[in-house]
This record gives sequence, C-alpha cells and structure tokens, in this order.
Amino acid sequence: MSFIVQYLLHPRSVGAVKPSSKHLAKKMVEDVNFVKARCITELGAGTGVFTEEVVKAKRDETVYLVFEINDAFYCTLNDKYGSIPNVHIIHDSAEKMASYLAKYGFSRSDYILSGLPFASLPKKTSDHILRECRRCLTTGGSFITFQYTKLKLSLFKQYFAKISLKKENRNVPPAYIMNCRNGRRKKNGTPDTL
Ligand SMILES: C[S@@+](CC[C@H](N)C(=O)[O-])C[C@H]1O[C@@H](n2cnc3c(N)ncnc32)[C@H](O)[C@@H]1O
Repeated sequence: MSFIVQYLLHPRSVGAVKPSSKHLAKKMVEDVNFVKARCITELGAGTGVFTEEVVKAKRDETVYLVFEINDAFYCTLNDKYGSIPNVHIIHDSAEKMASYLAKYGFSRSDYILSGLPFASLPKKTSDHILRECRRCLTTGGSFITFQYTKLKLSLFKQYFAKISLKKENRNVPPAYIMNCRNGRRKKNGTPDTL
C-alpha cells in the first residue's frame, strides 16, 4: 500500500505524504560514527529510507532497533530487513524504547534517529518520546531528527543541551536535520544542564 494512502488513513501519525529522499537519508546518518556505535535505534522508519543507509553502513555486531507502529510499513520493513542478524524490526511505539533496549541487552543507545512527525503528534506523546530519548541516549550520543520547519526547535531544546542544524534543500519539502546531544550526566543519570 502506498505512502500517501497511509497518510490519508493516519494523517497525524504518518505526518508526510511521501517518504524522505535519499539526500535527506544520507544527511541523517552522516554524523553517525558507525565504527564506534554498539547500538543504534530508529523511530518511525516508514518504508525504510533511513534504515537502508544504516543497514549498508553499520558493523555486523552493531545492534539496530527499528520502531514502526503502522501495520503496512511494519510489514514492508520486516520483509526487507527482518532477517538481517542484529536488526530488530519492532511493531510498537517509540514510547516503549527503554523496555526494548533492555530486551536486547542495552540500557542506552549511541544514536537515536527519528523520522517521527513531532509537528503532528499529540503533545503528550511527543513529550513522552523525547523524555525517553534523553534517558536512553549514551553520554556523547546523538538524537538526530528532521523537521520541515524550525517550529519544534524550542521543544527539542527543553530536552537536549546542544543542538546543531543542517538543511537539505533537495528533499521535498526541504528539511532541517537537528542533531541533539545531552550535556554531561550527573550521578543520578540526568543530564547536568537540565
Ligand atoms: C514522516 S513518516 C517518516 C517515515 C520515514 N522515516 C521517512 O523519513 O520517509 C513518520 C513515521 O513515524 C511512524 N510513527 C508515528 N508515531 C510513531 C510511534 N509512536 N512509534 C513508532 N513509529 C511511529 C509513522 O507510522 C510513520 O511511518
């Protein structure tokens, strides 16, 4: 079933009428250190444009968790990537990231790549997911997301100490890539800038 049909059926959760471009996918992963990463998580993978780039670049030992709640997209992802060792396609909400990390032997992920439509998700869901992202990111790790506008930058600033921005004009529509990092952690695990 096509992307636009899924958008028409679930406009708020799908949040886009077509998948991201290869150009955007390449920019989403260009700051990922694939040599060092032990665990990478992707939220809202859709038809797998970013997944494809990660699967091509990651080490075989790197564990890759891919979350997708949409039934049709989950089936597409599972058919394409579900049989690759250490790639886990998860048909569940990104809100449950911590329990799935634990299931696969991790408390934190080195990178969290997000295609989630924060502009259209309910505020409560966005807050829940961002809290989990902050909690589940290693010290020095990155939460990398894209947005079509800078409107949600202030929301991300509530959760992350440092944010750097890039733009990909060849995507339709053009998109900002936001690379969000925690500050150093206090002994109790919370970032010391919050
Ligand atoms: C804008 S699409 C992005 C798809 C793909 N990453 C891309 O860039 O082409 C957003 C995706 O997030 C998924 N999604 C929305 N809420 C989610 C949640 N709570 N947990 C997991 N996936 C979710 C949607 O089903 C959809 O596939």
